[in-house]
Amino acid sequence: MTISIKTADEIEKMRVAGRLGSEVLDYITPFIVPGITTAEIDRLCHEYMVNVQGTIPAPLNYCPPGYIPYPKSICTSVNNVICHGIPNDKPLKNGDVVNLDITVIKDGYHGDNSRMFMVGDNVASHAKRLSQITYDCMWIGIEQVKPGAHFGDIGAAIQKYAEKAGYSVVREFCGHGIGSVFHEEPQVLHYGKAGTGPVMQAGMIFTIEPMINAGKRDIKQMNDGWTIVTKDRSLSAQWEHTILVTETGYEVLTISNGSPAKPEKYLLG
Ligand code: MF3
Ligand code: CO
Ligand code: CO
Repeated sequence: MTISIKTADEIEKMRVAGRLGSEVLDYITPFIVPGITTAEIDRLCHEYMVNVQGTIPAPLNYCPPGYIPYPKSICTSVNNVICHGIPNDKPLKNGDVVNLDITVIKDGYHGDNSRMFMVGDNVASHAKRLSQITYDCMWIGIEQVKPGAHFGDIGAAIQKYAEKAGYSVVREFCGHGIGSVFHEEPQVLHYGKAGTGPVMQAGMIFTIEPMINAGKRDIKQMNDGWTIVTKDRSLSAQWEHTILVTETGYEVLTISNGSPAKPEKYLLG
């Protein structure tokens, strides 16, 4: 049970993969309007990755133990879907919220990131708040990252903020180490106790990707073998970045020209 320390050469490849992963989200942003289907979004992203970037969509045929191969190139999680939503032929509606989760492979290394999108001009204010609080949660987690910190510091900070907002944190899925392998050690929990878990060291790379529910934390898996929804059908939101531990703190690898800025201040003081 060891967490890999990336070499300078690997870190440079992860910077490239991270930027490319983020650029897929930049590219697809103007297409996220009422009427487009998630299958069309998947096709556009797939073609951009393969034909424009020369990247490989990591989800396509991804098959962790106990799963069937994932059938599409991206994950599209709409409204009460927590994660791993499979793109389909249902059009997005004005007022929907959708998470697009993109993982590219470039030169053997993975860049994994996701953003929330508000569909149309009629998204309820409670849905916007959930997305914004979840974005804050991701950044509050990122701000814990530095050599000597414990992984539990990330989860504790996120859980405290999410629960203060009246929301719940999904427990069954977590952030993860990443590099030439999509999901590797450590598991980066989005809940827990400060001062627990492994100690961070410069050169570690992992994701922070909190899934926050407006209602209860309980989940349900759909019969497609992948899609995870809230048991109480409440809305769920998620944001994800891939993070490098540096000598002095952190570097966000999944950054590009279109990345939303780090919050200047958090919604809840
Ligand atoms: N990108 C997801 C993550 O953040 C994993 C998706 S696995 C898939 O870890 F097969 F559903 F694509
Ligand atoms: Co991830
Ligand atoms: Co992801």
